Formats: sequence, C-alpha cells, structure tokens
Amino acid sequence: MKRIAILGSTGSIGTNAADVIRTHPDDFRAAALAVARNARAGLEQAVSLRCPLLAVADPAAADGIRADAARAGVEIVSGPGAAAEVAARAEADMVLVSLVGLSGLRPALAAIEAGRDVALATKEVLVAAGEYVMARAAAKGVRIIPVDSEHSAVFQCIQERAGAPGFPCGALPAPASVTLTASGGPFLDSPADLSKVTPRMALDHPRWKMGPKVTVDSATMMNKGFEMLEARWLFDIPLERIGVVVHPESTVHSLVTFEDGSTMAQLAPPDMRIPIQYAFSWPERLPAERAALDLPAIGALTFRKPDETRFPCLSLVRAAAAAGGTAAAALSAADEIAVERFLAGEIAFTDIPRLVEKAMNAAASPSCSSLEDILETDARARAFASAALR
Ligand SMILES: NC(=O)c1ccc[n+]([C@@H]2O[C@H](COP(=O)([O-])OP(=O)(O)OC[C@H]3O[C@@H](n4cnc5c(N)ncnc54)[C@H](OP(=O)(O)O)[C@@H]3O)[C@@H](O)[C@H]2O)c1
Repeated sequence: MKRIAILGSTGSIGTNAADVIRTHPDDFRAAALAVARNARAGLEQAVSLRCPLLAVADPAAADGIRADAARAGVEIVSGPGAAAEVAARAEADMVLVSLVGLSGLRPALAAIEAGRDVALATKEVLVAAGEYVMARAAAKGVRIIPVDSEHSAVFQCIQERAGAPGFPCGALPAPASVTLTASGGPFLDSPADLSKVTPRMALDHPRWKMGPKVTVDSATMMNKGFEMLEARWLFDIPLERIGVVVHPESTVHSLVTFEDGSTMAQLAPPDMRIPIQYAFSWPERLPAERAALDLPAIGALTFRKPDETRFPCLSLVRAAAAAGGTAAAALSAADEIAVERFLAGEIAFTDIPRLVEKAMNAAASPSCSSLEDILETDARARAFASAALR
C-alpha cells in the first residue's frame, strides 16, 4: 500500500490522480490533499478518499469548511504555506506535486527534505530550479518520478538503463538523445495571424483537457520548451540532445535514441491517468480498465518539425538555457504573468513571447548559487512582466 499526498487535488492532474487512487484501493491511499481556493471540492474529495488531512492556501476558503471538516474528521491546514506543510507532515510515501507554476517549488522541496519520493507534474519546478531541486533530491536519496506524459514516456523507454538502483532518472549516456513529441496545440496551421487569437480559442486544446496555464503554454509551445528543460534535469542530458517533433495524433508520447541507433518510443491513448498511475506504481505496472490503443482506428501517425517562426517560445527556452544563471527562472516567472495577462485580455497572444523575452533579459542574473537567487529573480521577472506596457 503506497500512501500518496496529492498537492493540487482539484486540478486536472489532481482529479485524475484521485481517480487512479479510487480505482486501486488495495494499492494506493490518499494521505493528504492540497488546494488553493476550492476548499469545498477539496473536502468532498477528502471525504470520498477517506483522507485525513487537507491543505487550503486561501484562509477565508478554509474557514468556510472548517466546521464540516471537523464533523468529517478531516484536519484543515490553511495559509500560503499549507501545501508545503502537509508535504512534510503527511504520513505519505510519495507526494504528487501538481500545483501551477512556482507555487509548486516550496512544497516539492518540503517533500524532498522530508525524504518523500516526488511524483512531479509541475514542470516549472525544474524549469526554474532544476539544478537545485535535483541536487537536493540526490542528497536526500529521494526519487523524482515524472508525471508529464512525455517524460513518463522517456522514463519508460530508459528503464533498462535507469542508472543507480533507486534513482530512476539517472544520466543518459552520450550520444543517446531524447525526442519529445508535441501535439502542436490548437494553432498548428491556423489562424495565419496569431495576434487575433482570443483566450477562449487558446483554451480549446484539441487533445488534452488541462488547467488554463498549461493549455495556453501548449498553444504558444512554451510548454514544450519547458519540457525540454524538465527533461534536461530529470535525465541529466544536455539540451542539445533533446529534440522536439510535432505529432498531432498525440499517440507517441516521446522517444529515446540509443547509441546503437535504435530508437524506442512509448505509445498510449492521450489519458493522463496512464502516466500518473505509472508514477504511483513504478517499478510495477498495474492493470487498468481502459481501452488500449486502436492503431487501425488512428490510421496514420505523422511527424513534422516545429515552426519556430510562428512559435518563438522554443527559441526563447534555448536562449535561457544558453544564458544560464537564473535566466530559466526569469523565463518561467515572466511566462506565468504573461499568460495571466493574456487570459485577462490585457495583452495579445503574440505579446506573450515578446513580454517573456523582455522580462527575462531584464530580470535574469548571470550567476545562480542559491535558492534565494532563484526566488529574487522570480520576483524581479514578475514585477517587470506585470508593469510592462503592452
Ligand atoms: N493537466 C495536464 O494534463 C498536465 C499534463 C502534464 C503536466 N501538467 C502540469 O501539472 C501542473 C498542474 O496542471 P493542471 O492542469 O492540473 O492545473 P490546474 O487544473 O489549474 O490545477 C491546479 C491545482 O493546483 C491547486 N493550487 C494552485 N495553487 C495552489 C497553491 N498555492 N496551494 C495549493 N494548491 C494550489 C489548484 O487548487 P484550486 O482548485 O483551489 O484552484 C488546483 O487543485 C502544471 O504545472 C502543468 O504544467 C499538467
């Protein structure tokens, strides 16, 4: 029986994770949940999963459910540090980090410092602070298991090369390379003029049902850039050996090419419960009552190069990696603000990469020697991106 804390339990990843726990009651149990504002929905999940501990970041939302939680025997922890507190305190073997953006960093570190394995969905944690987080995980003997479908695919392909026992994501030896697949999002071929894209259009992803931030990141392809950085840290592989291909069918979730020229791929229906369940059950596989791939129904699998003129975010990510220091932290923070501003109707879709580039250049510092450097850069980039005029 593995006890799992789900941070971000009311979100897209979190509700899928709760579903995985419900369908495997003999294998998994929910040890704690964490939400931002949706306290009532979090409490309903806690009751249905018989979970004893619920973190609610918004104190007012927490107050609204306190009496009912007490009756149901669910302890409430509230405040901005609540998710990190339960990550450290819960009686959990594994902590699923599926919050949005940098809000996942402190809870992920709290889980690591408490010696709990981390199933990581919140890619921004590694984008902003990958070197630091992986070093802390190694120091504490904690395993970081990928949840993102692309990284789960790579992880599954490299199982036989998994590195030191207990460290699933050991270094991939040269010249092995990783190819991440990208659906291409809703604007792969049209409209020709992306400046007219509205939030509603950007939130309508053709393949995946996800939270708003990651859906917009998919539409700009910033998400794929973030995934390159995530793979760089998870698999200890230089960025130059991580490629991206557009694969609109979202059936091949990523590929690894080994030194003998052989390429392995992982295929599955686009259903996040598959990589979530694998992160929970690794190194075992558990049965699941869901339809397997129907290749004749899919017919053809297609691949093409990403168009980096139309989607400049991939180049921005490479620029951040080349700059080093805290550039990736600045990039990630600026993107959070740019996406918020786009969703609020304050800037155009095509302003997102422009604003991120400016904020990154203004806020990044060339050296990154501590967590404070990352957090200070994050604050500078947010301030710049919030204040910048369209
Ligand atoms: N969705 C996917 O299919 C997918 C796939 C791969 C990777 N990811 C990554 O997984 C992460 C989560 O994505 P998502 O789509 O699941 O997001 P989402 O649907 O927006 O859900 C976010 C969850 O985090 C909670 N939350 C936000 N800030 C919090 C805080 N400070 N303290 C506690 N809880 C907080 C939210 O609670 P409230 O409900 O109270 O707001 C909600 O439960 C992102 O980094 C994304 O890039 C997602």
